[in-house]
Amino acid sequence: MTTRRHLLSSADLTPREIAGLLAFAAKLKAEPRRLVPGKQLALLFEKPSLRTRVSFQVAMRHLGGETIYLAPQEVGLGEREAIKDVSRVLARYVDIVAVRTYGQVIVEEYASYSSIPVINALTNEEHPCQALADLLTLQEKWGSLAGRTIAFIGDGNNVARSLVLTAAALGMHVRIATPRGYWLPDWVMEEASRRARETGGSFTPLVDPAEAARGADALYTDVWTSMGQEREAERRRIDFAGYQLNRQLLELAAPGAFVMHDLPAHRGEEITDEVIESPQSIVFDQAENRVWAQAAVVAFLLGAAPEF
Ligand code: CP
Ligand code: NVA
Repeated sequence: MTTRRHLLSSADLTPREIAGLLAFAAKLKAEPRRLVPGKQLALLFEKPSLRTRVSFQVAMRHLGGETIYLAPQEVGLGEREAIKDVSRVLARYVDIVAVRTYGQVIVEEYASYSSIPVINALTNEEHPCQALADLLTLQEKWGSLAGRTIAFIGDGNNVARSLVLTAAALGMHVRIATPRGYWLPDWVMEEASRRARETGGSFTPLVDPAEAARGADALYTDVWTSMGQEREAERRRIDFAGYQLNRQLLELAAPGAFVMHDLPAHRGEEITDEVIESPQSIVFDQAENRVWAQAAVVAFLLGAAPEF
C-alpha cells in the first residue's frame, strides 16, 4: 500500500486542483511541452474505446513520453491473474497507468497495490477525464464557468457523476434530470451540493427534463445503455423515452445554448441527429479536448505540472 496520488474519482480532486488542471490544460493546448520525456503510460483497457485510447496516446506523445496499449481480453484482470499481481507487475515496467474497467472497486483495488499513479479511464461509476475535457471545452467557449447553468438529461451514469462533481466545483449551476430509479447515488448528490455551496454554484436533481433544460446555457446527454448494460437496453429505451435531447428540449434552453455529448452517441435514442449536427453542438470540441485535459492530468500525477 502506498500514498501515491491517483485520479480514480472526480471527488479526488479539490475545486482548486480542478481549476488549476483546466488552466494548465489550456496552456498545454496553446503550447505543447515535453514535460515527461521518456515516461511510459500503460493503457489497461477492459472495454472498447476510440477517444480515450487515442487521446491518451496523442497526449503522451505531446508530453514526450510513450504508451503501451493492453486491449480487452489480453490481460484478464482478476481472471487470468489477480488484480494485485497485475498492478505490481505493471508498476515495474511503466511510470503511470490508465485503467478502463467495470466496477469502481476494481480500479480502487488496483490502485491500492500500485506504486505508480493510476488514472480512471472509465469505470461503471465514473469518467473523471471526460468531465475535465468537458469543462475545459466550456471554459474555452465562455471564458469563465462560474454562474453558468449546465443541465444533464438522462442516466445518472459514470459520465453524469463525474460531470456534476466537477462542474459543481467550479461555481456552476448544475441540474440533472433522470427518470425515477436512475438517480445519482446519495454520496454524489451530497458532495456535489457541498461543492456548489463552497463555490457559489448550485446543484438541483430533477425528474422533469423540461425543468432542467429551461434557460440552461448547456445541455448534456449520454447513452441510455452504457457498456456492460446491453441486456437492459430494451427496458431502458422504455424508461428513458421522454429524455431525448431533441429540438423541443433545446428550444427551452437559453438562446445559443451548447449541446454536449461525450460520444459514442446513439442518434435517434438519447439525442436526435438534427441536434447533434446543429451549430450549437460542441461534441467534437469535447473529444479534441480529451488530449489536453489528460496531458494535464498525466503531468500533474507525475509531478511535472506547476503548483496549483
Ligand atoms: N467518450 C469516451 O470515453 O469515448 P471512448 O469510449 O471511445 O473512449
Ligand atoms: N456511459 C457510457 C460512456 C462511454 C464513453 C458508457 O459507460 O458506456
